[in-house]
Amino acid sequence: MTEIFKVDPLNPSTDILERCARILRSGGLVVFPTETVYGLGANAFNPASVRRVYEIKQRPLDNPLIVHISSFKQLELVVSEVPENVWKLIKAMWPGPLTIVLRKSQKVPDIVTAGLPKVGVRMPAHPVALKLIELADTPVVAPSANISGKPSPTIAEHVIQDLYGRVDAIIDTGETLLGIESTVVDLTSEPPTLIRAGPVSIEALEKLLGIRISVPAHVRGLKKETRVPRGRYPHYEPGIPLILIEADNYSDLGRLAEEVVKVAKKYLSTGHKIAIIASKETLQYYSSLSGIKLISLGSRNRLYEVAKNLFKVLRSLSSLNVDVAICEGFEEKGLGLAIMSRLREASRQNIIRVSTSTV
Ligand code: TXA
Ligand code: MG
Repeated sequence: MTEIFKVDPLNPSTDILERCARILRSGGLVVFPTETVYGLGANAFNPASVRRVYEIKQRPLDNPLIVHISSFKQLELVVSEVPENVWKLIKAMWPGPLTIVLRKSQKVPDIVTAGLPKVGVRMPAHPVALKLIELADTPVVAPSANISGKPSPTIAEHVIQDLYGRVDAIIDTGETLLGIESTVVDLTSEPPTLIRAGPVSIEALEKLLGIRISVPAHVRGLKKETRVPRGRYPHYEPGIPLILIEADNYSDLGRLAEEVVKVAKKYLSTGHKIAIIASKETLQYYSSLSGIKLISLGSRNRLYEVAKNLFKVLRSLSSLNVDVAICEGFEEKGLGLAIMSRLREASRQNIIRVSTSTV
């Protein structure tokens, strides 16, 4: 049975959190909110509970989990050492949406890291997550609380769709603040390598560390890479084909919209039902197209809004009764990299590139 607890995110009931912490301590699974997305939590030091996380999510056993902590003391339990430059990042960014991959301690069971000698760790910036982990008095693994391959859940309804009846409790605090998952960076490699783009931008990380970070093409969503855990499996399955229209330069939005209209008309003329996913700035270009579903992701000037809406929109596509979705691209700067890497993955690299330069 799954118990659902509605909780005030900023002033959570200690009684409920204590009850959920007890569930974690006794080996159960609790879905809890973080500032990014909802996580499926289990005691990181209980291999049997961690195994259930993989099973319930239908997650392949070679894709490691992130360990969530509420204190620096817990950090010492899960990693073997914290190099000096890592402290710079931790002090600036934790609690927050940054997962750091470091060498693991012996205490961390192999199943957590899928047998790898490294572990991803993060201290989430959410009062409920922090309090729950503190009360559970143990580090907590928490992958996104979705069935593997689907977009991560940003509201409890998404969690219920995927996991109801299979977890012991769901803590519902409403919509999560950021809406996309944490940035993941491997600091054991030289240079450090980005594993997943996220709310903490590569520009911010490079500034703090004073060194360049390697951003492989697959992390930008441009190709598949089966040699790294994250690259092996598809993410953000939208349920219908998604075509991404990218521009080399987003200052000429009229040119971008022109291409979207061209592709839309091609599908409409062959009897397909379509959705167009656009920005607030470009909605006007599509209002005269009849019979389409038009969805706004938010403003290009407020990319946090686009990030926050992204998974909700992707999850909604399969119930819109359309055959295909055409989505505009965004500039790949700051949060734009996190948005574009996810859209490219969701499109399965079905990308049309528009050149805006005049020859
Ligand atoms: O924002 C988040 O990070 C959310 C919330 C709940 O905290 N969690 C989350 O976890 O997104 P998950 O498991 O859905 O994504 C973790 C990603 C996976 O793609 C995994 O391959 C990668 O991080 N990862 C975790 N540990 C790793 C490791 N030791 N080495 C390489 N990649 C790792
Ligand atoms: Mg996930």
